[in-house]
Amino acid sequence: MAGLGLVDLVDDTTYSGNAITAHMVAVPSALDEPVWAAAFLMRQLRDTNFEYPFQENKTPTQYGYKLIGEEKFVNEHTYSIMHMQGRMPSFSRFMEGKFGKFGTMPDRVKSFGYDLDCVLNSNASDIAVVDIGGGRGEMLLEVKEAYPHLRKENLVLQDFEPDTANAEDLTIQHWDFKDKSAQPYKGALVYSLTHIYHNLSDIEALKLMKKVADAMEPHSRMLIHEFAKNSTYGKMHATMITLYAGRIRSSREWKEMAALVGLEVTFEAYPIGGEGLVEMRKSPLANGTT
Ligand SMILES: C[S@@+](CC[C@H](N)C(=O)[O-])C[C@H]1O[C@@H](n2cnc3c(N)ncnc32)[C@H](O)[C@@H]1O
Repeated sequence: MAGLGLVDLVDDTTYSGNAITAHMVAVPSALDEPVWAAAFLMRQLRDTNFEYPFQENKTPTQYGYKLIGEEKFVNEHTYSIMHMQGRMPSFSRFMEGKFGKFGTMPDRVKSFGYDLDCVLNSNASDIAVVDIGGGRGEMLLEVKEAYPHLRKENLVLQDFEPDTANAEDLTIQHWDFKDKSAQPYKGALVYSLTHIYHNLSDIEALKLMKKVADAMEPHSRMLIHEFAKNSTYGKMHATMITLYAGRIRSSREWKEMAALVGLEVTFEAYPIGGEGLVEMRKSPLANGTT
C-alpha cells in the first residue's frame, strides 16, 4: 500500500475498487477480514437507509465484494468466502494463538470454580466431549492432557471443514451445523462450543442451540466459551456484527435463549479478559417439550 496518498483514503472512491481494496483481495492475511468489513460498513448503512440488524450473508463483508464486482462472493457466508479463498487453514492457525492465551480450557474453567473433574469423570456416556466447530482440535488436546484416561474415541472434533492435523488423537467428524442434519452424537457428557455462537445471528444461534439441546440428556452439559459482553471486547462485538451478523451475548440473552430451547443456565462466569463460561443443562421444567 506504499505510495497511497491521503486523498485515496478519504475521497469518494474509498468504497469502490481502489489500490487498498485491490491489495486486500490480492494479499489476504489473518486479520484482513475485519478491516475489509469495517471499510464498507458506513457505505452499506447509507445505501440501505440504515437497515439493521444485518442478515448473515448480507453484512458489510459481502457488500464490499458487491461494490468491487466480485460476484462469486456476494451471496456467500463469510466462512464460505474464506474457504473459497483457501483461507481456512490459515484462519484456523490464527485462531490457535488468537487473542492472547488465557490458560488451557480445563485450568480456565476450574479457575472460575467450575467442577470439570466431576463432569468428565462420569461414566454416563462414552462420548466425553464433542467440540462443535472445533477447528484444529487444540481445546480437545488440552482436555486429553488434563484427563489422560480419555481416549480418541471419547473426544470428538466436529467442523464443516475439519482439520485432520490431530487425527491420531481425536475422532474427527464432518458436521455442518447449518444443514438439516441433527447433532450426530446423542447424550455426550459435554457439548463444547468455543467462539461459535458469537459468529451467529440470534436466529442461527437458536437453531444450533436447539439441535444441541435435542441431542442432550439430563447428564449432558453444553459449555459455551466466549468473551464476555464488556468494554474489553467492544471491538470484538463490532467485528462479529460486520463479518457474520453475529454478536457477543450477555447473561440475560443466554438465559432467554436457553429457555426457548428447553435448557437453563446452570453456571456462568464473565471475566474482564479471556474466555468466560456459560453452562446449560436440560431444564426440568421442559421435560418432554423439546
Ligand atoms: C471462530 S472459529 C473457532 C474455532 C475453535 N472453536 C477455536 O475457538 O479456536 C469458528 C469455527 O467454526 C467452524 N464453522 C463455521 N461454520 C460452521 C458450520 N456451519 N458447521 C460446522 N462448523 C462451522 C469453522 O470452520 C471454524 O473452525
